[in-house]
Amino acid sequence: MEIREETAKRTEEIEKIIASYLPKEEGFQAKIMEAMNYSILAGGKRLRPMLAQETYRLFGGKSKVIEPFMAALEMIHTYSLVHDDLPAMDNDEYRRGKKTTHIVYGEAMGILAGDALLNYAFETAAKAFDMEPENRYIGKAFQILSQKAGIYGMVGGQTVDVLSEGRKITEEELDFIYRLKTGALIEASMLIGAVLAGATKNEQKIIECVAGDIGLAFQIQDDILDVTSTEEVLGKPIGSDERNHKCTYVTFAGLEGAKEQVRQITARAVSQMDSLVVTNVFLNELLRYLVSREK
Ligand code: IPE
Ligand code: IPE
Ligand code: MG
Ligand code: MG
Ligand code: MG
Repeated sequence: MEIREETAKRTEEIEKIIASYLPKEEGFQAKIMEAMNYSILAGGKRLRPMLAQETYRLFGGKSKVIEPFMAALEMIHTYSLVHDDLPAMDNDEYRRGKKTTHIVYGEAMGILAGDALLNYAFETAAKAFDMEPENRYIGKAFQILSQKAGIYGMVGGQTVDVLSEGRKITEEELDFIYRLKTGALIEASMLIGAVLAGATKNEQKIIECVAGDIGLAFQIQDDILDVTSTEEVLGKPIGSDERNHKCTYVTFAGLEGAKEQVRQITARAVSQMDSLVVTNVFLNELLRYLVSREK
């Protein structure tokens, strides 16, 4: 399997699904829809919807009920980036190869576009209830989405991330931050796919564990790329962490140590996946591929 080609094919499909759920730019408040669509259509790897869809397929899911959740996950992820880039947070001017939302639309619209994307994510996910009123898994999926995005998930992680700026933190704190700020939404993605496809409680547990590790490895790789990549390749500024006096896995374990962590944590996740009776060849390849991702 040529993983890059297969990923590109899926990304194209996902782009269409996301686009179909975006709001029309109309009414006196059209500016907010414009800012939302600007940030979400700027691109990105679409990893979270991809993980949701592939985990859904892994457990034999066949219907379109996963699609509003895929769009919702990308909306929440995009809102987290719009807010993460604000002057009060990481203060970054580029994202996904374009000027950040607050640079184009102003800070107030940047804040509102984030709020709007978060709320619209739930309006979008709720469409699943109308699609399949009899489907008893949708409520659980909705609950996962809300919890993993909030104070016990992504927002909680971003909070500790901000509070840890400029001071030395322990490996335990660093782990906590990464598992929440990045891991939680990746857990939500894979877990929602599993739940909607009717995976057993034990399978859900394994998937949550795998996703937690993948999220952790993904954030460590993000820290590595912040040091080793270029703005052209990443589509966002490099050196952002140093500028913000962030303690990262790279400052903690060194570049080689961080790379080794990414390899080890990913290997652990992939071997956990192998303990499931079901397989999805593409998903396994995708998880492995993330170790060597360059953006
Ligand atoms: C960036 O996420 C923020 C992190 C959690 C590291 P991605 O690297 O998935 O960003 P996009 O969606 O491809 O732009
Ligand atoms: C942020 O981590 C993760 C989020 C939840 C937004 P970073 O601040 O390292 O993400 P980038 O590097 O700006 O994408
Ligand atoms: Mg940040
Ligand atoms: Mg940032
Ligand atoms: Mg980063």
